[in-house]
Amino acid sequence: MSNFFRYVEGELHAEEVAIAPLAARLGTPFYLYSASALAAAYRRFAGAFAQERPLVSFALKANSNLAVVSLFAALGAGADVVSEGELARALAAGVPAEKIVFSGVGKRRSELAAALAAGIRQINVESFSELNRLCALATEMGRVAPVALRVNPDVDAATHDKISTGRKKDKFGIAWDEVIEAYRLAARLPGLEPVGLALHIGSQLVDLAPFRRAFERLRELLHRLRQSGLAVSRIDLGGGLGIRYSDEKPPDLQAYAALVREIFGTLEVELSFEPGRFLCGAAGLLVARVETVKESAGKRILVLDAAMNDLIRPALYGASHEILPLRQALREEPLLAADVVGPICESGDSFAEGRPLPPFAEGDLLAFKAAGAYGAVMSSTYNSRPLLPEVLVSGRRFAVVRARQSVAELLALDSIPEWLGEAAERAPEEAPAERVS
Ligand code: LLP
Repeated sequence: MSNFFRYVEGELHAEEVAIAPLAARLGTPFYLYSASALAAAYRRFAGAFAQERPLVSFALKANSNLAVVSLFAALGAGADVVSEGELARALAAGVPAEKIVFSGVGKRRSELAAALAAGIRQINVESFSELNRLCALATEMGRVAPVALRVNPDVDAATHDKISTGRKKDKFGIAWDEVIEAYRLAARLPGLEPVGLALHIGSQLVDLAPFRRAFERLRELLHRLRQSGLAVSRIDLGGGLGIRYSDEKPPDLQAYAALVREIFGTLEVELSFEPGRFLCGAAGLLVARVETVKESAGKRILVLDAAMNDLIRPALYGASHEILPLRQALREEPLLAADVVGPICESGDSFAEGRPLPPFAEGDLLAFKAAGAYGAVMSSTYNSRPLLPEVLVSGRRFAVVRARQSVAELLALDSIPEWLGEAAERAPEEAPAERVS
């Protein structure tokens, strides 16, 4: 139990706000964030690098709610964005352009143009082709693009396959043996100013060894670039620090900071980071209700009102989020093994299998822990289930920082063309024969 989510008089609280009455008021499911937990995570991270004072760019992909990003901005964070939408969010939340970094393996021309127009700190370029396109665009716009090259160091992050990004076979970055050539090209091309190197080898790393291997490769590149007379003033070390979901043992932040210091400490280079999960993962809960309890074929199945469209991490990565009852009394009762599932018509719509849990009954409320990162942002409207609300708590106060989408709003995005009736009438019974012209 953290200091921010704990039982007070038998009821689970977020800071000083009891969660069950919130659920009664707002309906379930919903995401709930603790402002103090968010701020504490940021302060811990920044504090571990108090000597270096790096730019800490919060990776918006982990949680892009404007209130959350605003809170980090107020604490001094920058932003790591990967789309025009995230760039707009970062700016709207008050992150100064000079603290925004644009990452991503496939940026569109319009996205690069928006980044140049906003005058952001740095564009992390991932290919020769992107260098050439950015050069053409910047020249056209009469701008100079500050560019860092994202290096693919060919290091296995030893995390889930779907969130590993630093192996040669992964689509990310410029192969490390081609980086010098790319940097030289960037230095030659008009409209580009190569400022440094960037790296991000994966997410939810629970071991420091892959970080070490990747950082060493980056340092070697930095030396070689400098030896050949090229200026390298910045190193962006990405995100990836893991957090605890169930029994993982994430690396100690101080040990991570010591590693960074050991490798880059004497290099006269400006450091920056792009943490996402570390800053917001533990600060959020997904609150849901047990809709139905099914006892079938000797199994106990809890069907919730939350589903894979609301929190997809278990279905997509086999992730395991701890489940807490909102009523503490339930924790004192003997545990029963249960499958925890959502109501979507797919067997993948499952949160846990055979998990020992308190004896939840229909109507009971529960919370998934560590749902603050890659939760709400990855939700969808599959099965025409509207997007969930998000609530931020601070001390005794709370605010709905994203409203629950209504079914009407969801439907309003679709339209039925006027000519549809006609098309239905005229449609042939069989598809026309295939024509090759
Ligand atoms: N920088 C770049 C370029 C990234 O691609 C990512 C995450 C980050 C920073 C932030 O990484 P973090 O510190 O959060 O590990 N949906 C997955 C995680 C995908 C991460 C993608 N990239 C999950 O739910 O586990």
